[in-house]
Amino acid sequence: MNRKDGRAKVTGTATYAAEHQIPGLVHGYLVTANIAHGQMTSIDTQAAIAAPGVIEVFTHNNAPTVLKLTKDSTSLRIYESRLPLSDNQIHYAGQIIGLVVADTFERARHAAHLVKVEYATQEPIVEATKATFNEAPSMFGEPRKFEKGNFTTGIAGAAVKMTATYTTATELHVPMEPHATIAYWENADSLTVYEPSQWVSGSQRTYAELFGLPIEKVHIVTPFIGGAFGSKVFPWPHGILCAAAAQQLQRPLKVVLNRRQMTANTGHRSETEQLITLGANADGSLIALDHAAKSCTSPVKIYTEPCTSITPAMYAAPNLRISEELAVINVGTPSFMRAPGENPGLWALESAMDELAWELNVDPVELRLKNETKEHQQRSLPFSAKHFAECLLVGADQFGWQNRPKQVRSLTHNGQLIGWGMAASAFPALRSSATVTVRLLADGTAHILTSGNDMGTGAYTIVAGAAAEVLGLPVEQIQVEMGDSLLPNGGIAGGSQMTATLIPAVMTACKEVLQVAKASTALEAFGILLESGKSVFEATASAAPGDEGKKWAFQSWGAHFCEVSVDEEIARIRVNRWVSVINIGRVMNAKTAASQVRGAVIMGIGQALMEECRFDPNIGYPVVYDLATYHYPSHADIPRIQVTFVGEPDYNFNPAGVRGVGEIGITGVSAAIANAIYHATGKRIRNLPITTDKIL
Ligand code: MOS
Repeated sequence: MNRKDGRAKVTGTATYAAEHQIPGLVHGYLVTANIAHGQMTSIDTQAAIAAPGVIEVFTHNNAPTVLKLTKDSTSLRIYESRLPLSDNQIHYAGQIIGLVVADTFERARHAAHLVKVEYATQEPIVEATKATFNEAPSMFGEPRKFEKGNFTTGIAGAAVKMTATYTTATELHVPMEPHATIAYWENADSLTVYEPSQWVSGSQRTYAELFGLPIEKVHIVTPFIGGAFGSKVFPWPHGILCAAAAQQLQRPLKVVLNRRQMTANTGHRSETEQLITLGANADGSLIALDHAAKSCTSPVKIYTEPCTSITPAMYAAPNLRISEELAVINVGTPSFMRAPGENPGLWALESAMDELAWELNVDPVELRLKNETKEHQQRSLPFSAKHFAECLLVGADQFGWQNRPKQVRSLTHNGQLIGWGMAASAFPALRSSATVTVRLLADGTAHILTSGNDMGTGAYTIVAGAAAEVLGLPVEQIQVEMGDSLLPNGGIAGGSQMTATLIPAVMTACKEVLQVAKASTALEAFGILLESGKSVFEATASAAPGDEGKKWAFQSWGAHFCEVSVDEEIARIRVNRWVSVINIGRVMNAKTAASQVRGAVIMGIGQALMEECRFDPNIGYPVVYDLATYHYPSHADIPRIQVTFVGEPDYNFNPAGVRGVGEIGITGVSAAIANAIYHATGKRIRNLPITTDKIL
């Protein structure tokens, strides 16, 4: 199926948050801190208030009242625990310290630069090497450490050992659509928020709790999101401040962030350092595996990049240990970013497996096949509909892996070194509950309504496809409304769970509407409507996970194979060829699913070769600040990406047999590239991104 929302997007009729037209709208521009640690000793807003068009200048001295009333924000589903303008403390450079509201955006921006701030500066820590690491606290109720068997005795008996440290750089989400919020109070007690939100019902509840409103008095509108990758799951401080200021002013207010503000205020993926130790018998079977990871968070939120969470699912080792440490540094708050944990985790583990394969003189595909685990080693549950071996074998076959020379530096083309590399890909399958309403109208259209949304993934399309299948209608006759809190609660577009959450509910609701109509197809139901003079048949149904998670470990699987060329004279690396084979259970729509994998591979190529955000050690601000200074792939950097799906519907997981596809594609990509670069050059690079200087 073609993308249902494709025409609206390419013709510009898809309305994004900042584009909504509200009469009487005024504009807010953020004032941000120029130091990374300390206090404001004074903040002078006189010149800003006197500037043309300025309506109000908010600082911690006159913060909107509601923000001062909220006592405990730590239980709220917000990215940053500290509410904006709480006090005069500065925790990171770029922190919001004020909001200028004016009649136009340009006047607000101009006045924001007239605010004068004096600081008492304290020494900031923005480098992980200078930070203090402690055991990471548990996350979502799960401890960040685990041991099976005894790693210390296990590794002592290993015939072959390898140990190495792998690092990743701080990465930014850089969605095409910048973060923006319009807040509109119809009365003092009724709030509408136009904001890109991956979780409409979650945002609705959070804004309701923040402002002490009944949940139905908050309306979240997010029909389209221009990319999010995890950065738009919860409200950020700018959105909360926008809503609070709009209430105080009794005016609809818009706050749009620029790219530089986004580097500090809308999340990033923390840099990581991971120590992997592997021990194997001479035949290549693992007997000991240790994965110890470090990441950093901000002073105003605990967020651990959960690098080791995937490790017990990957390879069987009788002695297996994982642990994570966290340090607080003076940077903005890190957040979920496409495959949080699994992505950096598999960078390290899949690089280490390649190193072990060279050490053992075993083919890296063989090593993975040999050590595949039949059960999830932390949960002691068997995997449902796994097909990991099939991903490896089909990928190897498609790529021509059997022709790979067994020595490094042995393939050349046009004076350049050629290397082949591979890595495994994996991501857990998640699912939550969703409610969907279906309406059959006398005009011959079917309407599917849910608050669950499409952040660019293709959710509109697969919802229509699932409904078309059950109703027996062409997909063109299905209209889908999503991303609005007035619609039934459709769950979260995060953790790759929207497909498995929504599709079973869509199918159930479609079956129920046919029962309501006493018809076997929608066409028959339309006939009954015309005969009876009724205008609509309607049904609402929910679907939720049961206790299947107690019997099975649900997980998606894959394998990446790639070819790189390295021009040693100028150390230029190019990715020439890419094969991904992925198992996600039933594939709802091959076109958009493959597009998700391609997008994820592209993002992984960026992580492998280009993306890096550093913080200025003196002022603490990211030294990258726009889409030119933060390097990521352009079209010319990307080869053809061949995507194949294998496997079978995972009916243990849900009645539709579907698992998600948003995140899995990025996992393993950077390792596959580093492994190919080693094959090409004989140089093992363990620090991302693999830039020219590391190859020279
Ligand atoms: Mo995802 S990182 O849960 O959008």
